[in-house]
Amino acid sequence: MSNYHIKNLEEYFQVYRKSVREPENFWEEIAEEHFVWREKWNKVLEWDFKKPEIKWFEGAKFNITENCLDRFLPMRKDKTAILFEPNDPEVEAEHITYSQLHERVCRMANVLIEGGIEKGDRVCIYLPMIPELAISVLACARIGAIHSVVFAGFSSSALAARINDCDAQCVITSDGSFRGDKVIDLKGIVDQALQECTGVKTVYVVERTGNKIEMENGRDKWLQPLLDEAYADCDAVVMDAEDPLFILYTSGSTGKPKGMVHSCAGYMVYAAYTFKNIFQYKEGDIYWCTADIGWITGHSYIVYGPLLNGATTVMFEGVPSYPDYDRFWQVVEKHKVNQFYTAPTAIRALAKEKLEYVEKYDLTSLKVLGTVGEPINEEAWHWYNNNVGKGKSPIVDTWWQTETGGIMISPIPYVTPTTPTYATLPFIGVQPALMDDEGNEIKGNQVSGKLCIKFPWPSMARTIWGDHERFRNTYFDVFENKYFTGDGALRDGVGYYRITGRVDDVIIVSGHNLGTAPIEDSINEHPAVAESAVVGFPHEIKGNALYGFVILKETGESRDRENLRKEINLQIAEQIGPIAKLQKIQFVPGLPKTRSGKIMRRILRKIASNDAENLGDISTLLNPEIVEDIKAEVL
Ligand code: PRX
Repeated sequence: MSNYHIKNLEEYFQVYRKSVREPENFWEEIAEEHFVWREKWNKVLEWDFKKPEIKWFEGAKFNITENCLDRFLPMRKDKTAILFEPNDPEVEAEHITYSQLHERVCRMANVLIEGGIEKGDRVCIYLPMIPELAISVLACARIGAIHSVVFAGFSSSALAARINDCDAQCVITSDGSFRGDKVIDLKGIVDQALQECTGVKTVYVVERTGNKIEMENGRDKWLQPLLDEAYADCDAVVMDAEDPLFILYTSGSTGKPKGMVHSCAGYMVYAAYTFKNIFQYKEGDIYWCTADIGWITGHSYIVYGPLLNGATTVMFEGVPSYPDYDRFWQVVEKHKVNQFYTAPTAIRALAKEKLEYVEKYDLTSLKVLGTVGEPINEEAWHWYNNNVGKGKSPIVDTWWQTETGGIMISPIPYVTPTTPTYATLPFIGVQPALMDDEGNEIKGNQVSGKLCIKFPWPSMARTIWGDHERFRNTYFDVFENKYFTGDGALRDGVGYYRITGRVDDVIIVSGHNLGTAPIEDSINEHPAVAESAVVGFPHEIKGNALYGFVILKETGESRDRENLRKEINLQIAEQIGPIAKLQKIQFVPGLPKTRSGKIMRRILRKIASNDAENLGDISTLLNPEIVEDIKAEVL
C-alpha cells in the first residue's frame, strides 16, 4: 500500500487512521519520499493553538520551485507543464514544457534580482490569467520573495490597500487584460492605486493587449526586453521550512482585508498530496482548474499542486460565456481534459443555457469533476453529473478556505462514494469537529454545528500579515484549542459532512468571499448615506446576492432613488470591485438594532430572502417597530 496514492476506501480508512494516530510519522514519510530537500527537518511538528504557533518540518531547507521544476527536468523536460488557452479561441494554445517553464521562471527571477528584490521582500502581482502570472509567482518563490497576488478584478483602492498592507516594493502587471470581448486597462488601475502607495519602486509591465498606456519614467519598465537580456538560469534561494511563501488576502469582518500568510514546507507537502489524491492525477493526464490564480484555488490547484506532481495544468485566460456558452466544453474536447475543476456558480450559469452547448462536444476524456468555493445545490450537481460527466465521472465537492491552503473535506474520486451536496469525508490528516454555541464538541452522527479543526495540518496559514493578534482572535479564540472555520456544517448518519454556509458576516457571492464590513464602509462614504447594512439572499446563479439596506441623511432624502442606487454601486465597484455590487438596494428609515446598538442581521437576512413570516421574538430590539416599515417596502 502506498500512503501517497490512495486507491480504495479501505486504504483511505487505514491511511486516515494512521494520519490521526501518528500524524508526525505519517507526514514525515510523505515528506521524505516525495520531495527533494537540501536539508532534513529537526522536528516534524510543533504547535500551540493558544498562541497560536504552528511549525511543520522545522529546520528543513529547500526551495519549492526545485520541487516544481528542476527535479522534473531529467525525465519530463519536454512534457507540457502549462497549457495556456487564450481568451480568443482563434489564437493558438501555448504549450510550455517543464524546461521552458524552468527557463522562463529563472529569467523572471533574474529580472527581479536585478531590480533589487531580495529574500523576504513582498512583490505584488496584478495580472490576468496569462503564463506570466504563474511564472511571476514561481520566480518570487525561486528567490524567496513573498508573492502577494491580487485578483485582477479588484479596483484600484482595493489594490492600493493590499500593496500598502504588506509594503510591497514592486508590482508586476500588464498593459491590459482580455475579458470576453472587452479589454480592461489594468495598468491604469495600477497607476491610480500607486498614487496612494509610496513604497513601490518598480512596476514591471507585460505587454498583452497592446492598448495605449502611460509609462512613468524611472518606475515603469516593460518586462519583455528585460527577460530577453536576463540569464536563463538562476540558482534557487535556499528557504527554511517556515519562511513565508506567499500572502493572499481574504475578506474579514472588518474593513481591512486579512493577509493570510502561508509558509513554504507544509504548504508544499499538503498542496501536492491533496492534488494527487483528490484529482487522482495519473501521468499523462490533462488537468484543468478554471479558477483564477488570484484566489487560493489557483495558487494551490493551478500552480503549485499540479506542478509539484509533474502534471500538465491548463491555464485559461477567458470566461465561460465567450465567444459563446460552450467555451468550457469546447476546451475540454480540444485538449482532452481529464480532470475539470470549477465553481458551482459557473455550473449554474451554464445550466441555464441550451443543452446543445454541452452535447455537441466529445467529453469522454473526463474522469473527475470538481467543485469549490460555495455549497453546490442539488439541481446544479445533477446537471453537472448528467450532462458533463454523463454519470461516469465522480464529482468531488471540495471544501476548504484561503486559510487552510489546501482541500480539507472532499471525496476521493473512485474511492469515496459521493452524495450530492456533501463534501463527504475529511481528507487524510484533517480532524474536523462540530461545536455547539456553548463551546462543546458535538459528538456522534446526525448532528450539526460550527465547523472547527482540532489538530494542525501542514498547509494551514501561520498568521495574518502584520496582525498576529487578529489571527488569534478570528480563528483560535472562538473555541478553545481549535481552529474555527467560520462555517456551519452537518454530519449525517454515515459521518459525511455537508457545509451549510457561513455563520459570520462573510457572504459568498459567485464563489467570491465578501465581507459585509468593507462594503458597508464603502456605501457609508456616499455623501447622501447615513448608515447601511448588507446581507446575503439566495440567488439562482450567484448562490447568494447582496441586499443593501440604506438609511439616507436628511440631505439625501430629496435625491432620485434610482440615481442613488447607481451611484452607490459605482462607488462599491470603484472601491472594492464589481463583484461586490449590490443586487438590490432598499432605502429604509432605520435598521433593527439590539439594545447595545448591534444591527440584527438575522432579521434583515430573513426580510431580504422573503422569509419574514417567522422572525421569532423581536421584542428585545431597541426599535421593533422598524421591522414592519422595512417589510412593507421590501424589493
Ligand atoms: O464558506 C466556505 C466556502 O468558501 C469559504 C472559503 O472561501 P475562500 O477563502 O475564498 O476559499 C474558496 C476556495 C477554497 C468557506 O469558508 N466554501 C468553499 N468550498 C466550499 C464552500 N462551501 C461549501 N462547499 C464547498 N465545497
